[in-house]
Amino acid sequence: MAQIRCIGVLTSGGDAPGMNAAIRAVTRAAIYNNLKVVGIKRGYYGLVYNEMEEFGSKSVSNIIQQGGTILKTARCKEFTTPEGRAKAYENMQQSGIDALVVIGGDGSLSGARIFAEEYDIPIVGLPGTIDNDLGGTDETIGYDTALNTIVEAVDKIRDTATSHERLFLVEVMGHMAGYLALNGAIASGAEAAIIPEMETEIDQLGDLINRGFRKSKNSAIVLVAENPATGGALGLAQRIKEEFPEYDARVTILGHLQRGGSPTAADRILASKMGAQAITALLEGQRNVMIGTKNGELVYVPFSKATKHSSTIDRGDMEIVKILSI
Ligand code: F6P
Repeated sequence: MAQIRCIGVLTSGGDAPGMNAAIRAVTRAAIYNNLKVVGIKRGYYGLVYNEMEEFGSKSVSNIIQQGGTILKTARCKEFTTPEGRAKAYENMQQSGIDALVVIGGDGSLSGARIFAEEYDIPIVGLPGTIDNDLGGTDETIGYDTALNTIVEAVDKIRDTATSHERLFLVEVMGHMAGYLALNGAIASGAEAAIIPEMETEIDQLGDLINRGFRKSKNSAIVLVAENPATGGALGLAQRIKEEFPEYDARVTILGHLQRGGSPTAADRILASKMGAQAITALLEGQRNVMIGTKNGELVYVPFSKATKHSSTIDRGDMEIVKILSI
């Protein structure tokens, strides 16, 4: 196996708070191990179009607390084609980059997997997504911060919902995964969560809401995971309007504000540990794995497992929302 002398680092897909902490950790751990570091701009786009710069320790000063990504990010169409990846490989060779650290979600790691297989390049991935929807890891970088943002927002919505005695449907992100909606509901004391992993019929929802409304509460909050198939919170509000016209329902879509903000301490720690481990992994000869966590320990997850959509949503957690909403 050829010796690694220079690594490239990039962030790809939707940004997530903590990506900067991860870039910092990757860069500094690499420099500590006498490796050269190249920062690649705009995800795979920078590889295809040669937008890169050498990074020193100072390039990543004062960023651990910043949301977003100093490297910028993109969803790069060109890289999905063999021609695009050929250009990317050529640029990598010319810049002397012999290994990559890719920080991103499902799509970004799937791209990394194909690229690594085609050109036999050592690549290590870091799970950077607010959705927490990657396989083989308990946590992803950005999820904790997004969850805290949701809870802060729902606390505020609760004030107005209570004052007006209204039902609120709050739509959160998740890219077809219900982690943010379900755990956001538990953490904010919401009356129900609607998630893509479990079907909720409209009369079931009516039941859930009635329980809260009629018995002890004068308002209700339902967290709804985005889901184009059902129309998300707006689609649900329409159905509620038709079937339960007595409820004065309102919709709040939290949208991209969930992706911003300074990362929580938990995300900074996760990103720092995973970033440093990515360099250890490459130097150990690991390739085509994502750094994950299992029961608090760092683990290596093959890309094939990381990008497989297998929900680990616990039905018992859904039950907790129900039990605690009486
Ligand atoms: O994957 C992260 C994510 O924020 C998803 O939760 C969401 O569905 C998607 O990205 C939105 O992507 P975009 O910013 O490209 O609209």
